[in-house]
Amino acid sequence: MATPYDIDHLAEVGSTQDAASQRRAASGRATLVVADRQTSGRGRSGRVWLESDTAMYSSLALARPWPDDRLTLLPLATAIAVRRALAALGGVTVDLKWPNDLLRSGRKVGGILVEASGDDVVIGCGVNLTWSRPPSFAIAVHDDDANAIGARQLASGWVDELLRVLDAGPDDWPRSEYVDACTTLGSQVAWDGGTGLASTIDAVGGLVVETSTGTETVIAGDVHLRADL
Ligand code: BTN
Repeated sequence: MATPYDIDHLAEVGSTQDAASQRRAASGRATLVVADRQTSGRGRSGRVWLESDTAMYSSLALARPWPDDRLTLLPLATAIAVRRALAALGGVTVDLKWPNDLLRSGRKVGGILVEASGDDVVIGCGVNLTWSRPPSFAIAVHDDDANAIGARQLASGWVDELLRVLDAGPDDWPRSEYVDACTTLGSQVAWDGGTGLASTIDAVGGLVVETSTGTETVIAGDVHLRADL
C-alpha cells in the first residue's frame, strides 16, 4: 500500500525543499509541501530556479525508499510520475531529458531536484504552469490561463504516481516508459568525461553512451546536448 503523507499547501515559501524537510523532521511523517510561489527556489548544482507567472512548486520528504545504490533512479522515477500526472490531468505530453528535466516543444517546462538528508530524501519538482513571456529556453504547460491545472492537484497527482512506482521496487521501475519518452537518446552528448551518442538508459538509471573508444555509462552530473558534434 502506498505511503500515507501529509500535505501542506502554502501561498509562498523560501524553498519547498526546506519546508518539506522541516515539516517531516517535526512530524516524523512523509510530507508534501506545495507552494504557489518560492522566494529562494533552487535547482541542481545550486542554480536559481526562475519563476514563471504561475507554477507548481512541490517537494516530498520521506524516508529513503530504496537502497542507497538505487537512489540514482529517483529523478527518473519522478520524471515518469510527473509526466503521467500531466497527461492524466491536463492531456499534456512532455518529453524527458535525462536525468531531471521535463521538456515541452524542446524547451524546459519543469525540473526535478533530489536531495538526501540523513535517512530521508527530499524529492522536489517545479513545473511552469502559465508564462506569458518565457525566456527562449523555457516554456509553460499551458499557452494561456484557461483550464490550467491547479498546483495542488498536479502535486498530489505526481506524488501518488511516484509512490506507486516506489512501492513496486527498484527492480520494476518503468525503464521502457522512460526510454520511450527520453529525447536525450539518439543525441550527441558531452559530459566532463567525454562525448558520444546517447544510446539507452541502464537498470540503475545511468545514461549509456557510445564513444569513439567504446561504451561508457554516465551516472550523474550534467550532460549537455551538443548539436555541433
Ligand atoms: C533543476 O532543473 O535544476 C531542478 C529544479 C527543481 C526546482 C524545484 S521547485 C520545487 C523544489 N523547491 C526548490 O527549491 N527546488 C525544487
